[in-house]
Amino acid sequence: MATFKRTLVTSALPYANGRIHIGHLAGAYLPADIFVRYLRMKGEDVVFICGSDEHGVPITLRALEEGSSPHEVIDRFHTENEAAFQAADVSFDLYGRTSWPEHRAFTQEFFLKLLDGGHIEKKTIEQYYSEKQGMFLPDRYVEGTCPRCGYEDARGDQCDHCNATYEVTELANPRSALPGDGTTPVLKESVHWFLCLDHFQGDLLTWIESKADWRPNTLGGAMSWLREGLRPRCVTRDTDWGVPIPLDDPEAKGKCIYVWFDAPIGYVTNTKVWAERQGTPEAWKDYWQDPASRIVHFIGKDNIPFHTIIFPAMMQGQGDYIRPDVVVANEYLQFKRAGEQAAEKLSKSRGLVIEVASFVETFGADRLRYYLTAVAPETSDSEFSWSDFLHRTNGEAADVLGNFVHRTLSFGTKVFEGRVPKAELLEADRKVLSAIGEARDEIGRMLDRFQFRQAQIAMMDLARLGNRYFDEQRPWETRKKDLPRCAACIHVCLQLIHALARLMAPFLPGSAERLAAMLHLEGHATPGSWQRVGEDSLPEGSTFDRPKILFPKLEPEDVPAQ
Ligand code: 2FM
Ligand code: ZN
Repeated sequence: MATFKRTLVTSALPYANGRIHIGHLAGAYLPADIFVRYLRMKGEDVVFICGSDEHGVPITLRALEEGSSPHEVIDRFHTENEAAFQAADVSFDLYGRTSWPEHRAFTQEFFLKLLDGGHIEKKTIEQYYSEKQGMFLPDRYVEGTCPRCGYEDARGDQCDHCNATYEVTELANPRSALPGDGTTPVLKESVHWFLCLDHFQGDLLTWIESKADWRPNTLGGAMSWLREGLRPRCVTRDTDWGVPIPLDDPEAKGKCIYVWFDAPIGYVTNTKVWAERQGTPEAWKDYWQDPASRIVHFIGKDNIPFHTIIFPAMMQGQGDYIRPDVVVANEYLQFKRAGEQAAEKLSKSRGLVIEVASFVETFGADRLRYYLTAVAPETSDSEFSWSDFLHRTNGEAADVLGNFVHRTLSFGTKVFEGRVPKAELLEADRKVLSAIGEARDEIGRMLDRFQFRQAQIAMMDLARLGNRYFDEQRPWETRKKDLPRCAACIHVCLQLIHALARLMAPFLPGSAERLAAMLHLEGHATPGSWQRVGEDSLPEGSTFDRPKILFPKLEPEDVPAQ
């Protein structure tokens, strides 16, 4: 494995037009957080950046729908989403905003640099315009009849019936899908600025071809664009909500830079703001420009072309930037209703949304984190169902991990007065202890490869091993007939728990902290603590508390029937 001097981890900036739901969390945020917590525990130099995406149609449409203003919308959801991430223990170093003035200035700088380099060109195009609303319609707000299959409710650029994609002007019987509109739009000329992606085709292809170890979805998404051949892509919009086009050109009036141009620059702005707040204003460059650094983007699969083609092209046009080392794209988490065969897409418009904030309030962050990692949509879409949530968090987190901790600490407080007993180890005990270092290495290998599901299973396997060992050793019997054996068993189990308090920390940070407190550990998740797992041990005689339940069991009536 290549080694890097430092790592910048980003999670896709969520639109501040609604509350984040568990599908978002499973896709771009939770795996990134696990990865970052693991790197921090290894003592690596890592910065974790995210923030709200506050421009574009998603925001203006929401304001239109609720009769408020874009400002009101972004202020509300920025605050709510930042709090929801905190509640879920997602540990960003900075959660910024693309409405910040420094972001506007920085985006304009990027735009001008590309223009000066000859990579942005001006063109006149025809676009649908709603006379009733007095505005140009983005593709997603035009509906009509599919030019391929004749489906009458096809979306502007894609048909949900036959999956075809096409130009919005190919739709038959177009109508405006803006709320309260529904009129037939007219085609009107408009001047726009295009990013010449074709200038970067060769370099991007060479780069993507060197990434054979990326996930197939990410490679496939990038390659399908490259195989079709990159074409200039419009990077401005007819809207007044966004970063203004920084040109003294009458035709730029009433237009803004496209949200997908400014949003990824938000990663850079937010790193800059982080560096300033740290008192090292130039440090952001180390993460974005030093070839000894690596950048890792975590995203949902719908964002693949933006992170593998468009943003890298924009960055290449700037000159000084490094390319991402890895783009980790997840598939979708779908929702399965009780008694239904097929899972459905979690979607706000269908009223199928489970918000992170209310979920965490009801069930706690770690139950959610445990389950979402257990069903992480890493290689294909996966399913969330309430019954599976109940069964797995009860049957795994509580019965395996929680139970192992509980039985060991209860027995230890009862029989050994809450002190790590002295032990004379036999071969069988040593074998169990040697599994600790192996587990640490295996979990680390999997996290390095972004296999979060497998990594969590490997962590749980250590607790499973502990339970098996406890059962085999039968300390409740040896306690009466062979106390040294009983002491050895509890000693070994305590060492396993000591390791688990650290190995579980990236996945279940709150529970790890509670466990560390029961063991009177300090700095269980501090830099360097990962490597110490398996190397150090709880000294004989050190004290621990009577256990508190880590994962209280849920009853079927605690979760919604639907
Ligand atoms: O798909 C989305 O939710 C976008 N707001 C993601 C932006 S990612 C980045 F480039 F900022
Ligand atoms: Zn169709």
